[in-house]
This record gives sequence, structure tokens and C-alpha cells, in this order.
Amino acid sequence: MPKVFLKKLNARLQGGHPWIYENEIGRVEGDYENGDLVDVFRPDGSFFGKGYVNDRSLIRVRLLTRKNEKIDEVFFEERIKRALELRKRLVKDTDAFRVVHSEGDFLPGLVVDKYRDYLVVQFTTLGMEKLKEKVIDSLLKIFEPAGIYEKSVGSFREKEGLQDFEGWIYGNGPELIEFEMNGLKFLADLKGQKTGAFLDQRENARMVIDFSDGKVCLDVFSYTGNFAAHLLRGGAKHVTLIDYSERALEVAKEILMMNGFEGKFELINANAFDLLKVFDKDGKVFDLVVLDPPSFAKSAKSLENAKRGYKEVNLRAVRVLKKPGILVTSSCTQVVSEETFKEILVEVSQDTKTILTVLKRGGQPSDHPVTLNIPETNYLKFFILQVEKR
Ligand SMILES: C[S@@+](CC[C@H](N)C(=O)[O-])C[C@H]1O[C@@H](n2cnc3c(N)ncnc32)[C@H](O)[C@@H]1O
Repeated sequence: MPKVFLKKLNARLQGGHPWIYENEIGRVEGDYENGDLVDVFRPDGSFFGKGYVNDRSLIRVRLLTRKNEKIDEVFFEERIKRALELRKRLVKDTDAFRVVHSEGDFLPGLVVDKYRDYLVVQFTTLGMEKLKEKVIDSLLKIFEPAGIYEKSVGSFREKEGLQDFEGWIYGNGPELIEFEMNGLKFLADLKGQKTGAFLDQRENARMVIDFSDGKVCLDVFSYTGNFAAHLLRGGAKHVTLIDYSERALEVAKEILMMNGFEGKFELINANAFDLLKVFDKDGKVFDLVVLDPPSFAKSAKSLENAKRGYKEVNLRAVRVLKKPGILVTSSCTQVVSEETFKEILVEVSQDTKTILTVLKRGGQPSDHPVTLNIPETNYLKFFILQVEKR
């Protein structure tokens, strides 16, 4: 096994963070290929941990364990069972949940979502890709699924030197997998985004049920209508969904019809930024607006851009709200902290001469664990705000 020696031990690494950056490495003994397992040693030569290496990434090594143990099926079985144990008491009212959330479950580079009897897996790093067989063997043993779909697609793959891949790697199943959440029927679209659905909004979406009775609502960046379905379940009079993915809206229609919401929604295939501007110009107003935009920055380099994006879209949403009205707003951009997000919202309130009162706050559900020692596991911010004229 190749040996990687740390230059020095810092508080972050000592405190349990699994990433070793290029400039934290002193020397390397032995040859390796990118993606191989390596043993990591402290500067004094004592064993520190085991992980996988990739020279293409600034995060040179991602640690899998601090113990000198074998990385085999048994290792993955133990890690996955630990993750399942955490979820047992906390994941409620659904037959779909995230089984493995990468670093949040001490399995960097691996995402596993379960939709009823099916698993959808995502390998985001070369190191984890090389361990695929062991991962899949342990998943088969634990879950005995009807099928495993691999959806390893995204820009992160290219950075690691990997090509996109998607398809059934075990068994077979439908393109749209039915599942239930908060008493509603949903479909995970394997040809859609993420692993098919945005499971991270499950608890936040449930919160909107209490605010939608009799309301005329707008679900901006709707994807397949997760928030829209919850709003209608809460008794919303009507919901308009906006997304620029035509396919997402087709699936949204199917989902809303499956739940008996015929005639209570409108689907608009458009760029949300442009359409909100048009609504504002035409004087169109809503009682409640949901904003769930995509991530606006992949790294700290684009933080300023992301801040501008959030300001712009929240401004436009507040402009099309009746006052008082309700703004449901979220940010999934990891580099935008909750503090920064709140500062942006305060700027929006100043520019629109409104007062924003927090009615509910949310975040990631427990199947997308936030580990305090790994700040990067914390990405989702969510507020339900009362918007009033100042
Ligand atoms: C984070 S997802 C929304 C997830 C959804 N709220 C849910 O809970 O399932 C963001 C969505 O925004 C859409 N989108 C991205 N940029 C857009 C734009 N400029 N205009 C309209 N839709 C956009 C994407 O197609 C995607 O469906």
C-alpha cells in the first residue's frame, strides 16, 4: 500500500475532517494510480488513516477510516448499517430516503437513495468508483433490492477524470419509480435531476402544508412539483409551477393528477427570472411564493455571483407577493452560509420596503446528515417568511 505522510497535523484533520489537501502532504512512498487506496501517516510516522488518492483533485486524499482496517464488503456493510440505524428513528412518513450521504455518512464519493424497493446510486469520485463492486455487494446483501440504478452524472465526474454513466446495474425497473412522502404520491424520474427526486426538501415541503389553505400560490423552480403537491394538500386554491425543464413539468403534471389535484394547477415552462419580471410588470400577485433555485455556485470563487442571484430572485418574488404574504425561500448553495443568506434577505426587505418575519425555519432532513466537524456537509437553508409592508 502506498504511504502518504502528512506535513503537519492541523486542528481540522485532528477534529475528524476527512479531506487532505495537496499542500498538507509532506512526502509519498510507493507508486499509486489515481483512485488507489493509500495509508496516511502523521509527521512522526504513526498511522493516521486510510483513504483514496487523486492527483487531479486539490483534495488529494479523502479518508475513509482512521483505523488500520481492510476496505472490503464488511467495511461498507458496517458503514451502511450505521447510516441506516441513524435514519430508523428519524425518517418518517415516507418510503423513500437517502441511505448514504457521502461525507455526512463517512463514505466520501458515495450517494445512495432508496425509492421503495429500488436503490439509486451515485459515484462522485474516482476512488469510490474503484470500490464500486464492494459497495454494490454490500448494498445487495443489506437491502435485497428489486433493482439498482446507477446515476453517476454531473460535472464532479469530469473533475475526477471520470465519464458520466447511467443505467440499471442490477435487476430492472421503471423509469418513473412511485414512492410516498407525507401522505402524497410521488414519482422519482430516473431520467431527471439528482437521483430522480429532491429528497432533501421532504421536511421543508411538509412545513408549507400549514400555510397554504385557500391561498393562490406560485412554485418557482418547481422541478416535479414537490412543493406544489404539498401546498395543494394543505388546501391551496391554485398553484402555478414554473420550471425551464419541460420534462420536469410533464412529470409534475402526472404527480399532481395522481394525487387528485386536477384543475388546481398551471404549468409554465419558462425562465423563472424572466417570468417573475413579466408578472411584476403585469401586476400579477400571489398569496404565497416558493423559491427553490438550483445551486448558484459550485465553489467559493463564484460566491459573489451566487449572492447576486439570490438577491435578484428573492427581490422579484417579493414584488409579486400580496402584502401581507408568505415567502418560502431556500438556498442549496453550500458556499452561501445561513448568515449570508439572511443578510441577502435583509437587503431584499430594505429594497422592497418590507419587513420579513420568520414563521418557520428548516434545513436538511436527518437522512442528509450535517456533521459539525465537516462544515461542507451543511448546505441547505430554508425559511418561511411573513412579508409585510413597512
Ligand atoms: C433545486 S431544483 C427544485 C426542486 C424542487 N423544488 C423539489 O423540491 O423537487 C431547481 C429546479 O430549477 C430549475 N431551473 C434552474 N434554473 C432555472 C431557471 N432559470 N428558470 C426556471 N427553472 C430553472 C431546474 O430545472 C430544477 O428543476
